[in-house]
Amino acid sequence: MYFLGIDTSTTSSKALLMDATGNVVVVASSPHTVQTPRPLWSEQNPAEWWQATAQSIRRVLQKAGVRGEDVAAVGLTGQMHGLVLLDEAGNVLRPAILWNDQRTQAQCDAIHARIGRERFIQTTGNVALTGFTAPKILWVAEHEPHLYARVRHILLPKDYVRYRLTGGYAMDKADGAGTALFDVRRRTWATDLLEALDINPAWLPPTFEGTDITGHVHQAAADATGLAVGTPVVAGGGDQAAQAVGVGAVEPGIVALTVGTSGVVFAPTTEPLIEPQGRLHAFCHAVPGMWHLMGVMLSAAGSLQWYRDTLAPDTDFDALLDEAREIPPASEGLFFLPYLSGERTPHPNPLARGAWIGLTVRHRRAHMTRALLEGVAFGLKDSFTLIAEAGTAPIREVRVSGGGARSALWRRILASVLASDLVTVNTTEGAAYGAALLAAVGVGQWADVPTACRCAVRATGRTTPDPAATVRYADAYNLYRDLYPALEGLFPRMATFA
Ligand code: XUL
Repeated sequence: MYFLGIDTSTTSSKALLMDATGNVVVVASSPHTVQTPRPLWSEQNPAEWWQATAQSIRRVLQKAGVRGEDVAAVGLTGQMHGLVLLDEAGNVLRPAILWNDQRTQAQCDAIHARIGRERFIQTTGNVALTGFTAPKILWVAEHEPHLYARVRHILLPKDYVRYRLTGGYAMDKADGAGTALFDVRRRTWATDLLEALDINPAWLPPTFEGTDITGHVHQAAADATGLAVGTPVVAGGGDQAAQAVGVGAVEPGIVALTVGTSGVVFAPTTEPLIEPQGRLHAFCHAVPGMWHLMGVMLSAAGSLQWYRDTLAPDTDFDALLDEAREIPPASEGLFFLPYLSGERTPHPNPLARGAWIGLTVRHRRAHMTRALLEGVAFGLKDSFTLIAEAGTAPIREVRVSGGGARSALWRRILASVLASDLVTVNTTEGAAYGAALLAAVGVGQWADVPTACRCAVRATGRTTPDPAATVRYADAYNLYRDLYPALEGLFPRMATFA
């Protein structure tokens, strides 16, 4: 018996086949393209998701030599916050507007003005951010009224894939919360907000807990994928919630730290904790009846990628990081601000800019590299600080994953800045793996998600802080914290030169 996890990410559609003991059998992915028809826009064609998903499913079944009938359940995950609009007949009305699209600042301001910022935070657990689904709906209503008049269904990216798999409209609660139209405490649509924003509640699908069965594979999807008609399709979760399941961050005190293009700190909670200023995201978890607080840094390993590509294109990552090993902690007073794509946590500001600050003639490239690794670590510490202040359970374990966490140096810097051990785990396939676990729990393979994670996820390594560096970083972090407020007022002026 096998379980399938499907991840509709921004870059690809990935299918992961897991066996009944939680081992990954085979993974396949097919790429997507992103369109930027105007500055700040980021769009994708939903038909591409479906074609790429069907192809990836066919490839995993073929590679593993597994028949569709042997797949007991499918679980879904994917990029959060995207807007998919369908007409009465289920046809896509326009390209999906993605999570990293930045066109909706005016609509975010309008939402805060109409609802009141505090009420909005208290209901949805978040401030209105340009990436979220709610302001995108208002943007389409304002700018494409002819098309808006034909809207009958609103979905998120992975739920469009669900629609193509099952023919039904459904969404999980973790991703539903990411629309910013959700009453996060009650785990259901915020009907008063929908009313105030003139969004027809009938357009939104029913929402389900992450392990609920939302429908079954229908004939057209069976023909396209090789799955059997009637295979249960489980709700799953948005990519961050599914990623957390995939590394076992499913109980209070176990925090997931993901150092990917973006950097994410994900803390499960047993009750909805809302940061009063909305500096953290408060969403539902994919684990039934649980919530989570989440800090998102938009350019974590993305900062390193940009730096290498722009300033050291002929040097490979290992060589670049190796140089930085020799530099003392705090890089002789050089600091890096990682706000290369604006920021979300702790400064929800699309206009924030990155910087190295404190350069002298003594500084070499190796200092710039080390300062960058440290700046990202300080920024992630901001999320840990806010999460602790919000009253979460004391952290027992930080589980680190993502491309950036493959560097032993970066892990050591992170552990020292956070003054915490970092644990690596055996499950490295991220959100798709979490979706497969949710599918398995959904059809009774394990009693619940924590049990599934205890069976499948094992620690493989531990990075401890360097005591001397930890002391030095405590001081350096205080200075780092003063840099953003010192520069904040200048960012809008810089934007006028863009
Ligand atoms: C989470 C977020 C990203 C996207 C794309 O809030 O914006 O994780 O889901 O991966």
